[in-house]
Amino acid sequence: MAVIREPRAETGGQSIAFRVNGRAVVVSSSPLQRLSRVLREELGLTGTKVGCDAGDCGACTVLLDGDPVCACLVATGQVEGCEVTTVEGLADTNVGGKLQQAFLTHGAAQCGACTPGMLVAATALLERNSAPHENAVMDAIGGVLCRCTGYRKIIAAILDAGVKDAGVKDDASAGGAAISPAAGAAVGKRLVRLDGKQKVDGSEIFGADETPASALAVRAIRSPYHRARFHFGDLAAFVRDHPGIEAIFTAKDVPGKNCYGVISKFADQPVFAESEARHRGEAIAAVAGDPAALEALEVADFPVSWEELPSLSDIDAALAKGARLIHENRPENILVRGRVVQGDVDKALDAADVVVDAEYETGFIEHAYIEPEAGFARRVGDQIEIQACTQSPYMDRSDIAAILGIAPERVRIMPTAVGGGFGSKLDLSVQPFLAVAAWHLGKPVRMVYSRTESIVSTTKRHPARMRLRGGCSKEGKLLALDFSADFNTGAYSSWGPTVSARVPVHASGPYYVPHYRALTRAVHTNLVPAGAFRGFGVPQAAIAQEQLYDELADRVGMDRLEFRILNALDNHTPTVTGQILGAGVGIRACLEALRPKWKAARREAADFNSNSTGALRRGVGVAGMWYGCGNTSLPNPSTVRIGLKRDGRIALHQGAVDIGQGSNTIVTQICADALGAPIERFDLLSGDTSITPDCGKTSASRQTLVTGKAAQMAGENLRGAILKLAGACDCASIHFGGGGGGDSDDSGITVQDGDKSHVLALEDLPLDEHGYVITSEATFDPPTSPLDENGQGVPYAVFGFGAHMAEIEVDIELGTVRVLKVTVAHDVGRAINPTLIEGQIEGGVAQGLGMALMEEFFPGKGENLHDYLIPSAGDIPPVESILIEDPSPIGPFGAKGIGEQAVIPTAPAILNALHDAIGIRVRRIPATPDRVRAAILAAHKEREKENARG
Ligand code: FES
Ligand code: FES
Repeated sequence: MAVIREPRAETGGQSIAFRVNGRAVVVSSSPLQRLSRVLREELGLTGTKVGCDAGDCGACTVLLDGDPVCACLVATGQVEGCEVTTVEGLADTNVGGKLQQAFLTHGAAQCGACTPGMLVAATALLERNSAPHENAVMDAIGGVLCRCTGYRKIIAAILDAGVKDAGVKDDASAGGAAISPAAGAAVGKRLVRLDGKQKVDGSEIFGADETPASALAVRAIRSPYHRARFHFGDLAAFVRDHPGIEAIFTAKDVPGKNCYGVISKFADQPVFAESEARHRGEAIAAVAGDPAALEALEVADFPVSWEELPSLSDIDAALAKGARLIHENRPENILVRGRVVQGDVDKALDAADVVVDAEYETGFIEHAYIEPEAGFARRVGDQIEIQACTQSPYMDRSDIAAILGIAPERVRIMPTAVGGGFGSKLDLSVQPFLAVAAWHLGKPVRMVYSRTESIVSTTKRHPARMRLRGGCSKEGKLLALDFSADFNTGAYSSWGPTVSARVPVHASGPYYVPHYRALTRAVHTNLVPAGAFRGFGVPQAAIAQEQLYDELADRVGMDRLEFRILNALDNHTPTVTGQILGAGVGIRACLEALRPKWKAARREAADFNSNSTGALRRGVGVAGMWYGCGNTSLPNPSTVRIGLKRDGRIALHQGAVDIGQGSNTIVTQICADALGAPIERFDLLSGDTSITPDCGKTSASRQTLVTGKAAQMAGENLRGAILKLAGACDCASIHFGGGGGGDSDDSGITVQDGDKSHVLALEDLPLDEHGYVITSEATFDPPTSPLDENGQGVPYAVFGFGAHMAEIEVDIELGTVRVLKVTVAHDVGRAINPTLIEGQIEGGVAQGLGMALMEEFFPGKGENLHDYLIPSAGDIPPVESILIEDPSPIGPFGAKGIGEQAVIPTAPAILNALHDAIGIRVRRIPATPDRVRAAILAAHKEREKENARG
């Protein structure tokens, strides 16, 4: 049983007086306490976010006497007598309200975690300079990181909120933002996101923003070593001797299974390691107590002795003959293998006119969402409630139930707003610690990860080592591709099986490759688990395959874009799994949409290079992508419930967690049009497992397709039920409003059937078991089939397609790469909300740029946002989005997903542009300046050798 003690009294602080948002306040605090903490915890102004506590992310930006500062770096004693302005007070400034509105109309807030800091920094700028140039805007927000938007819509919104004669064009989306489309006309409109207001006024509740008043804090004790044995000392004495510490929990205190995992068949991760930690950052215990006591706790004082053990630090070490097994039941340290084989690759390669071999390697990439993991839990009788940031409430529910040894119905998951997830918040983080502590203590508990804790313990993008051999005819027709890849999946399985299964299906790219072999392995090492990160391994594969295709095109003397167009899949060519999609294959249209821009950009780059006498060279690169929406050959259902209320409003129970991508808005647009009701009629109920049916996880670009389709079906069903109730035909129209009280009565429904009008007096009708006049529920599961032993079958019902073109400039003396512009074409089937889709694309481009040029995480090093660099506003070029609508016969109103798609082709397009500019290929990604410079020097040496020989 856990070691538990009674609580002790808290200590007080010093009185400090200042003004916040025009109001005088006096706080009781240590003068050294961070201002961000005081604003949030003492004054309840949780609009000020904390992403790092180190001055790196800018999420905590506030105005101090009008100047922007990082509140996490300001000691509260320093603000005595000053005026502090937070996001909650912006509406009262000269420009704040205008900025907030501009952020909404431009779609500049996605998850919203960076939004308060952005708005505050922008307010400071516009208060000084009402007509700033774009460069001034980028400077002003340069210290505020955003991981979702790619900054372009933020910049456009700030420019829009300033005086309009600044000589800079507005973002295209601004003018067309729709607030209130007519009934039945929401799909296709640039509807302002329905959950936008709370993101710009600071009232959005993220994981760390709400907690029961009496909640204890929980802190995990984690391994400082990649692999280590450990022995606890006297835990009871430690609790006794540390006032304020209430309890310590270890593996012995897990009431159910000390094991969880996102794929139950492979579940292997303990809540607490039992005697040996398998990776740095793995938890071995959790301490619960009053927040001040836990903050004062020195981890070095915790009674545990460590014995560092030899670790397997990379794929080679793990696969070496005789290597120690990280999991006894996984021979050769291989978690799982993936395989897709079609035709006779070896024979086709032998017969090919041109064959190219290549190898590429990528590293760990950190998700770097601005909101570190956080939440609280409380025990309510024999149930547990957890409110935390998550992408997958129902999966959390199952795992927490197993950990506590109780039925899933006794677990309630209440997702908060999610400050960026990108795949990592599919896995459990704070939830198991909170559940175990709250269960034993019977008191509410809260846990907030520090940035470092988030980085060391949560999943990463898989490092990949890829080998390829591809062949084509002299006319440029692709004949064969032989692809193999090892993925470093770290110490636990997480999404390793999914990456291994998805990559072989996608490594051909969106092209017809008649002879194909793709083999993958997920390999365990003693490193942080790798999991889901936007694309499940497909972005890594695209880096390899798209560069190989450029090499093949060059070898046969073909234009690189035309090579892709020649080989593009169409509706009737089989994919590498033998699937014929029949309709909705928009890759050719995407590539062709880029053609005029490609020709112009190539000409411009050539002109620049021929006139360049200095160190700068320009290049243009292109890459294509495809991505199957939803799970690979696995059931994937979403269920949506809608209810007609007596007041004529409609409750939409949709469990798709909106992590910033916009599912709250998109799903409502789809449902509204299916029903024929105006958007304003809807009351949205999201996420909470006690009030929404299961809409699956927010991942794999599945929510628009799967939950959207379920919402469409539920809307159509409700429309049918209303018509039936009125005794009207299917062709009748429904008008919401005009109840028994006449036209001004908004509560009723009028059904117009030819010249007959039926008024439904809803208030007189009985309620069903859900409390509605009519309830409509629909489930959609995309039709797929299992893959056979060669990976043949129907892995996905719907694919999204796209192509990116990057224009770059390289400094050959410094090795630096500047991306000048990215032009993209994406086939989204039907653009349900173009502004939100562009937001996904621009955010994906930014992450792809980081992947190509700057991002790599080394476990044990740089576990903060100071050393781990993600793109800031100044790194991101203009992005031109071309939306292709080749409708899916399956998706709602023809729509396909876009979330993962957007990131996939950017990095290979940039890397192809790098080769175009200076003729080198960087085989180890990212192409950081040192690697680019080394490749330039190596190529130079090689040329010298050849010259000497020749
Ligand atoms: S929380 Fe202050 S800069 Fe990140
Ligand atoms: S909207 Fe900027 S971090 Fe999510």
